[in-house]
Amino acid sequence: MPGQVKIITITHKHTNLKHIGEYVIKAADSAVLKERLEALKLRFDLPELLYLATCNRVMYLMVTPQTLDDTFVSAFFQEVNSELPADVLAHLPEVAQVLEGQKAVEHLYEVAASMDSLVVGERQILGQLRDAYEQCKAWGLTGDGMRLVIQHTVVAAKAVYAQTRIGDKPVSVASLAIQQLLKSGLPTDARILMIGAGQTNMLVAKFLHKHHFHHVTVFNRSVDKAQAIADMLGGRALPFHALSSYTEGFDCMIVCTGAAEPIITESLYASLLQGETDPKIVIDLAIPHNVTPGVSSAFPMHYIEIEGLRHLAHDNLAFRKRELHKARILLSEHISAFPALWRQRQMELAMQSIPAEIKAVKDKALHEVFRKEIETLDSSSRELMERMLTYMEKKCIGIPMKAVREGTR
Ligand SMILES: NC(=O)c1ccc[n+]([C@@H]2O[C@H](COP(=O)([O-])OP(=O)(O)OC[C@H]3O[C@@H](n4cnc5c(N)ncnc54)[C@H](OP(=O)(O)O)[C@@H]3O)[C@@H](O)[C@H]2O)c1
Repeated sequence: MPGQVKIITITHKHTNLKHIGEYVIKAADSAVLKERLEALKLRFDLPELLYLATCNRVMYLMVTPQTLDDTFVSAFFQEVNSELPADVLAHLPEVAQVLEGQKAVEHLYEVAASMDSLVVGERQILGQLRDAYEQCKAWGLTGDGMRLVIQHTVVAAKAVYAQTRIGDKPVSVASLAIQQLLKSGLPTDARILMIGAGQTNMLVAKFLHKHHFHHVTVFNRSVDKAQAIADMLGGRALPFHALSSYTEGFDCMIVCTGAAEPIITESLYASLLQGETDPKIVIDLAIPHNVTPGVSSAFPMHYIEIEGLRHLAHDNLAFRKRELHKARILLSEHISAFPALWRQRQMELAMQSIPAEIKAVKDKALHEVFRKEIETLDSSSRELMERMLTYMEKKCIGIPMKAVREGTR
């Protein structure tokens, strides 16, 4: 049984997201992270260690015979973060999940298949897990057990993504906004005004780029942020105040700033129209809204605002969650197959020395035990005998391997 596969994890399910950072290894760069992980591995005598930190979880995956009791977990997190306050340490048993053997494998499969995510179906977790594994492997923190666990985790998670619709429908406001834009049939050379260059518009810009929109003018108070988006899209960056004197017209406006008052007033909108009368697409992703309420009734437009997108996101997330049942059934087949795979690998490892041992028996027979008799043989008899021995050697090596495969089925 894969009883040595163990996990200590803290996730969004057991603590507030803002507290997860307390259990993460703080490291200014990857060299420091490597050193800290090596120190953890050494201090707790862990044969294999994998570290995964994302915005909704931190996971320490180990292959170890050790018992992970409360004393171990407390000492472990004091090593991770020496500044953890005593009251936080006292509550560790309620916050940290400790999983062993089949339970650990099950959890890992569910994490990779994004069934345990805050936003179910976010495929990027699988990439994050693979990157974490590759990094820890490159740093010499993992070995053959982890290789096997991760390899089969990836296979199981891919099956979930391929055979269910868990990640099908978009749930982020940015991707839903672009989905609406695409539905409207806006051509990729349409003139787009992007107002604001914060995190949300950066995400929107990535989707615009993906769908080949390129005629984009970005307005922002800090022009360097507007420039970063414009560079990605091959567009233009202008300061926020240039909006009131902009004379080139537009087909679509995407507004998303942290302004407390509406910034797209009726007069500014009229000036931006430059006399054009065809309906425009206006996307307002800000809370509170950046577009004055009167604008959408005063001018012909397809108005897309954040509340509508949030409803869509909610419906799509509910759809993804309904796929969880199907995903669990699928995953259960992979989970129950894992102990046999683990056992088979352990036997293979135990038998790794067999080929060399059989070859040594053959060489000893030829060069020591029967050396004198062999010398009396003519060359064709000697050649036949050597071919027979080589044949026997190969067949003998195959016998225990076959027995292992059949015995672990
Ligand atoms: N983050 C989310 O998940 C999310 C999702 C949906 C909607 N929203 C909404 O989107 C809006 C922006 O969020 P964000 O996450 O992109 O914020 P952010 O990364 O903090 O960026 C804020 C942006 O707004 C600009 N800005 C702030 N105050 C302004 C003002 N008075 N006049 C003009 N520009 C101003 C900033 O310009 P400078 O760069 O010059 O400071 C920056 O471009 C908020 O209303 C938020 O509620 C956020």
